[in-house]
Order: sequence, then C-alpha cells, then structure tokens
Amino acid sequence: MQSISLILLALASVSSARSVSGGEYRRSILNATAMANSSFYPPIPVNKNSADFVPDVTGIPLLSKNESVQPWNGVHHAPTAHTNALFARSCSGPVATTPGTFWYEQITHNGISPFINDGASWPVFRNVMTGYGAAGDGVTDDTDSIQNAILAGIDGITRDQNKLGTTGQPAVVYLPSGVYSISKPLQLYVGTVFMGDPLSPPTIKAAPGFNGNTLIYGKDPNQGSTINFYIGVKNLVFDSTNIDKDTTFTIIDWSVSQATQLTNCVFNMPSFSSGHTGIAMPEGGSGTYLGDLQINGGVVGIDMSNQQYMIKGVAFQSSTTGIKLSHCFDCIIQDCTFQDHSIAIDMSSNSVGSLVVLDSSAQDVGTFIETVVTGNGGSSLILENVQNNGIGSAQTVMASGNSNPILSGNVADTWVMGNTYTPGGSPTGNYVGGATFTTPRSSNLLSNGKYFTIAPPTYEQYALDQFINIKSVSGFPVFGDGVTDDTANINSILSTYANCKIIFFPQGTYLVTNTIFVPAGSRIVGEAWSAISAVGSNFYNPTSPVPMVQVGNAGDVGVAQISDMLFTVADVLQGCQLLEINIAASNPGDVALWNSHFRVGGAAGSKVETNCAGAPSSCKAAFGLLHLTSTSSAYIEDMWGWTADHDLDSGNGQNIAVGRGALIESSSASNGGQGTWLVGTAFEHNTLYQYNFHNAQDVYAGMQQSETPYWQGPGLSTGDELDPAPWAPALVTPYGDPDYSNCGGADAQCRMAWFEYIDSSTNLFLYASGFWTFFNGNDLTNCNNNAACQTNAIDITSSSGIYMYGINTKSNLNMVTGNNGLLVTMNNNPGGWGGVVAAMLAEE
Ligand SMILES: *[C@@H]1O[C@H](CO)[C@@H](O)[C@H](O)[C@H]1NC(C)=O
Ligand SMILES: *[C@@H]1O[C@H](CO)[C@@H](O)[C@H](O)[C@H]1NC(C)=O
Ligand SMILES: *[C@@H]1O[C@H](CO)[C@@H](O)[C@H](O)[C@H]1NC(C)=O
Repeated sequence: MQSISLILLALASVSSARSVSGGEYRRSILNATAMANSSFYPPIPVNKNSADFVPDVTGIPLLSKNESVQPWNGVHHAPTAHTNALFARSCSGPVATTPGTFWYEQITHNGISPFINDGASWPVFRNVMTGYGAAGDGVTDDTDSIQNAILAGIDGITRDQNKLGTTGQPAVVYLPSGVYSISKPLQLYVGTVFMGDPLSPPTIKAAPGFNGNTLIYGKDPNQGSTINFYIGVKNLVFDSTNIDKDTTFTIIDWSVSQATQLTNCVFNMPSFSSGHTGIAMPEGGSGTYLGDLQINGGVVGIDMSNQQYMIKGVAFQSSTTGIKLSHCFDCIIQDCTFQDHSIAIDMSSNSVGSLVVLDSSAQDVGTFIETVVTGNGGSSLILENVQNNGIGSAQTVMASGNSNPILSGNVADTWVMGNTYTPGGSPTGNYVGGATFTTPRSSNLLSNGKYFTIAPPTYEQYALDQFINIKSVSGFPVFGDGVTDDTANINSILSTYANCKIIFFPQGTYLVTNTIFVPAGSRIVGEAWSAISAVGSNFYNPTSPVPMVQVGNAGDVGVAQISDMLFTVADVLQGCQLLEINIAASNPGDVALWNSHFRVGGAAGSKVETNCAGAPSSCKAAFGLLHLTSTSSAYIEDMWGWTADHDLDSGNGQNIAVGRGALIESSSASNGGQGTWLVGTAFEHNTLYQYNFHNAQDVYAGMQQSETPYWQGPGLSTGDELDPAPWAPALVTPYGDPDYSNCGGADAQCRMAWFEYIDSSTNLFLYASGFWTFFNGNDLTNCNNNAACQTNAIDITSSSGIYMYGINTKSNLNMVTGNNGLLVTMNNNPGGWGGVVAAMLAEE
C-alpha cells in the first residue's frame, strides 16, 4: 500500500522511544498537522485531486481485546499429539457430482475471531436469508436485512463502530440463490466477504426509485482507500436495469487496495446507457488484482482509478467504453474480451504510466485503444497477442483527436509504444512510436496460445460429504483459537485426507510450533482469510530457516491448492520461512494459490504488532515470506506479501525487518519441464528484496507491485537499517541473498531493498511492474517530487531471455542495472510516477 499514515503511528509511540546501540533511534518527524500539508505527498498525477492521496491516520482500534489471548506467551494447551494419520485412506481425489446445495452453505460454521472478547461467539458466517430475514423473492425490500447481516457484531458493538480493529471483525455475508431487491446503497467494511451461492448466483437488483447512485460501496467509509484491505465480493449478479439508463449510477465503488477479491460476478446494466458504470474507484486505492467477471451494458464497464491493477479474464459487452483508465500508473489487462463498444480501452486521460494488454480480443468495436502520444515514458503501451475483429479493425490504437490510426489490425507478437531497451540497442534507450518485438513465450507457460490462467475454484461441483472441517474431526481436536498448538492434529488430518477430501479451515488463527506439511493431493479452503500463525523456538535459527507451511517435497507431482488463507507469525521469528512450495503440478493449475496472503506484524495476535517500534534489528520478524523452490511449478493469483508498515489494529510503530519477500527458484530444468505463474501479486516492505528470481526458468509474472521498507534509506542513525543489515552476517548463499557489495559502505540510498533481483535465470516474462519508494528513514519530507530516494530498483545478472514490459518506478534513480554496463535510469525515462520503460529485453 501507499500509506503515509504509518509514520504518524510511529510517532504515537515517541514517548516510548528507547536508546539502541549507535545512539537514539530516530523517530519520524511527522505529525498530523504536517501530514495535512499535501506537498508532503507523492506528486499528484494529471487529473487527480489531492484528496486522493490524503493519508489515513491510524488503523481501527481494537477496543474490545481479549488480553489473555497471547500466543507468544507460551502455548496454553496442546491436545494429545497424534503422529500417525487417522487411518489409511485410499481415494483418488474428491468425487465431483451435481450437488443441489453449495457445500459452504451447509458446512458447520464454527469460525471465531480469537483476539476479541467473546470471540468464540463472533458471527463469522451470516446467511442473509436464514439469519437476517432477507426474502430474495425479487419483491421484498431486502436492503435492511442484508445491511444488518453486514453490520452484525457482538456485545453491542457493530462492525461500523470502529472498535474491533481491521482484523477483529471477519464476516462472510452469504446470499443464497434468489433475487434481492435493494432500495438504497449497501455498505461493506474491512474484513467483509460478500458472497453468493456459485451454483445459482443470486442477483442484487437495484429497485425502481433507488435512493442513491451507488448500489454497493465496497470501500469501508471509515478508512482511506489505500488501507482498505481484506474485502471480497464473489459469486453474484448485479442488476441496475431498473434505474434510468441516463442517470449517473455505479454498481460497485471499489476504491480498495491489496488483499481484496472481486471475482465470479456478472454486472448487468442497461444497454445504450449514458450513465451507468460497473466498477468505479472514485477514491483511488492500491489494488493489484480483479478478474473473472462479465460486464454488460452501461456507459463504462470499469472506470479504473488506482495506483496499479491487473484486470484478468473479464468479458466486456455493449458498453460505450469497456475500460476507462482515468488513472493508473501500472496497469495490465490479460485474457479479456471486448464486444460492441465505441472504445474498448480508453487511456486518453494522460494519467497512465504504462498499460500492457495481453491475450485479448475485440469484436465490433469502433476503436480498440484510444490514447495520447507523450513521446516519453508516460502512457506507454504494450500489446501482445491481441486481435481486433470487425468494424473497427482499422483502429487498434488511435491517438485522441487524430483520425489516422497509429496501429491497425491484429498484433501477433509484441507491439510497443514508449521507451525501449534491447540487446545491442542504444544504452540510453530508444523511444518508439510503435515497433514490433519478438517475445518467444515458453510453450510450457501457454494454454491455447495464451498464457495459462485459471479462475479461483469454488469447489461447487463437490457435495458437502467431500469436505472436512478441520475443527470437526473426532479425536483430533483443532482449535484455531490463537492459544492452542494445533500443529500435530492439523498434520494428521492433512495427511489422512490427502487425495480424498477438501479441507475447510473455518476463520480463526491456527497456532503452529512446527512445520505444517501439505501433501500432494491436498485442497485447502479458508474463510475470510483463516490464519496459520507460527510461534516457538523451531523458528529461531536464521541460518537454517524452517518452513511454517511446506507444500510437498522435492520431486512430488500432483495437486496442492490453497484458497482464502493467511500466513503470519505470532512472534519475532527470524528463522521462519512462512511458505515453501516444492511440489510440481500434474497439470497447470493443479498446484495453485488464490486470494491467499502473508502478513507479518500490523495486527492483533502477534508480538510483532507491539514490540517493533524500535530498531529494525530488534525485529527480524521472519526469514522470508514465499519460497518457490527449484522443483516447484505453481500458479499464484492475487497474493499480497505484506510486512506491515503500519498497525491495522492500533497505532504501534512498525519497523519490521523481515528478510525476504518472494524467492522464486522454480525452474523447468528441475520441475519436469513446467512453468510458473504469478498473476496479480504484491510484495512490500521486506528488507533484502521484494522479488528474487534465482536460477529460475520459465516464469510468467503479470503485475508485480512493491514498496521498500519505509525505515530504509538515509535518516535513521543506528546503521542497522543499511542493507544487508540487519540480516548480515546471516545471509544464506544457497538462497541467493544479495550482499549489497555493489554499494559503498555508508551509502544508505544504495543499501535499500532490491525490488527485483534477477540472477542466473532464463526465460522470464515479466509484465507490468510498479515499484514505489515513498520515504527515506521514515521521513516524509525528504522524498518529494520524484527525488531519487533510492539508487537501484531492478538488477539483472548472468541471465538470458529476460522480457520485461511496462516497468514503472517512483523515486528510483536507476530503474535497471546489470552485467555489461546495463543501466536504465529514471532521468532517461520520465513519466508515470517517476520512470516508465515500455520494453526492457535483456540477453546477457
Ligand atoms: C507539527 O507540524 C507542524 C507543521 O509542520 C509544525 O508547525 C508543528 O510545530 C509540529 N508539531 C509538533 C508537535 O512537532
Ligand atoms: C507544506 O510543506 C511544504 C514543503 O515541505 C512547505 O514548504 C510549506 O511551508 C508547508 N506548508 C505548511 C502550511 O505547513
Ligand atoms: C479470552 O480468551 C480466553 C482464552 O481463549 C478464554 O478462555 C476467555 O473466555 C476469553 N475471554 C473473553 C471475555 O472472551
């Protein structure tokens, strides 16, 4: 996220500042008055209001906290450990049928919210019909029933009161099949999953005479857009056809950020409308991913106004404009279809860094893409494998106000407008107004000629008897209560039911003291981001890290799928690798994670939240977040690897030094010739790097978003914030840790986390990167107006076949460095939020 807020939170604890070796630890100098001064904020892009970047002051306080739930204080009880599986199973996977009822509607709902008072009674699951009186008959006004289901809390505290933290009030508001008539806007809050029955998706229909101009506010009104996390909307049909087609109306306000999911929904708006928009983001946000939608009618399908986004798998039909990029520094549109629009994609706002369009097609559109020609980095455009059929086939790319197309017809390979860097080309780059490049996609990344993608599973084809609720296995109690050691029984249940059942983790925090092993044949589904959280001495050794969750062993081939889960730590654990994937997929998508995230610190239930306001060296809270080992082949979609930069549940300072973000070693040379996909991912605030491609081969990435730790850079006085500190001398060579020997010893702007560190890798296809530096040394005042606040962003060494399209950086002097004098600078590529490169092809 782009949060300017956390600095203020660190300030809140100024009075508890303590001395550390090297002198007084420097606190942020900011305060609320200073932060209300808009010149502190990143430059406002064209056509944006400064209000879009007004920061948020604090997380939601958790006022009704159960102080006795302290996982770091020793495990309160551990049930009898069973080391063997329950009993031998012989299955060939769960059996698909044609169930009449969705399994999730029927399964035992025993999720809890562990860290609030009376959290064992917290209503996670809310069935709007059976629990809150909604009729779903298309006639009754169901607005209040559904809103009451969204608001329901405990002990007189409703979810709109801002008393239960960002993480204390998880809710799945479930709508059985039906038509729900709505007369005024529905309002969601952080922690809400608004979800229909996928077997027969319910319709939310705006009633005639609707009072308001937005059907659903997805954004929590109490929180700024860039801290609207953990919100989901899925398996629903929205219908605005009762509202006059020329009235200004929005189906969903999606001004939200990371760890959100908008998927498997249909938007039905009146045709030939001049007023209806499907998805709008009037307050901005810092999102990364939405996908697998169908949007019909209206004037605009998606009105994008966000820092960065991937839009995947959306079918647009019969709106005047399919996607309007009102603002987006770093956008990618993948595997989308457009039919019957005057403009399929309108990026003429001149408020775009770069747009990548992949594997998409248009039918019967006037203009596929309307844009502006800047002659530099801004509004860079990359098209690859794009078909434009029908009436407007002559107008694939048009400049606003110009009647001659810049590009006509189809694009079989890669067409680029913007600054390009190619082997043998000018070392300072070439601006091209439209040139074609060859991108030799690895065949193992493709399906029907497109990069492989897969929608998140609902498992709707499996009946209830194909599921196991991990908290309901007789003789193997599992609690998910944040105090019990659940390690042994989770492992027993997973090994027993591998290849047999789908495992449901009800909402809660599952404390583990050792590795959870996810065997081949596993399918795991959480509920509003059920957490697995590490604690204890097994995770203390930083030179020999231990995975908290290990998916398969090297050489395993099969199925391992995880959805809707969260990986975290309950204590400062410098030897904890949160997730390690070793298994290769039988078929693409068999090994996959969707909508599953990492969070270290910034939330109740972890000592990291309260003990990390001081020097980063005292808070090496985890070794690393994601590790894809060489033998793995995985598909990962919608993942946020967040080391907290601020506290979601209070106002504690968060100077956390997690070592590593995503280490990607997946290689087709080691995993049986398979590919790896990262679709809509973000890794933020990790110390040594956000993404490290080390000996990787045949990897696709679409949308990579990152920020460096806010405490890095000049300003702090202890010295332990200069990379590789505080991780030196415990760098782990086999893990490809960068040692920063390229930097002068005291060069604090050089010794900041690499965004992308690529070494000894081959055939990487990396589209749409947004790498942002906001601060030096927790100080808002020294990193304004695209000052170069960080020396380096991306490094490419000893690699070949590296294809990067749509690189965006903010406040990074060097965008790309590498062997043989490779040097791409921000100053040579102005645009977007600082620097934009359309194409960077490295062959070393
Ligand atoms: C807060 O910032 C304002 C504006 O920069 C400044 O005038 C004021 O003195 C600051 N207050 C404190 C307590 O530092
Ligand atoms: C706002 O910040 C700018 C840049 O730091 C400074 O010049 C200006 O005086 C500040 N204005 C106020 C009202 O604090
Ligand atoms: C607090 O948590 C403990 C441990 O789970 C539990 O026994 C106790 O009942 C909880 N207290 C309240 C007020 O919820």
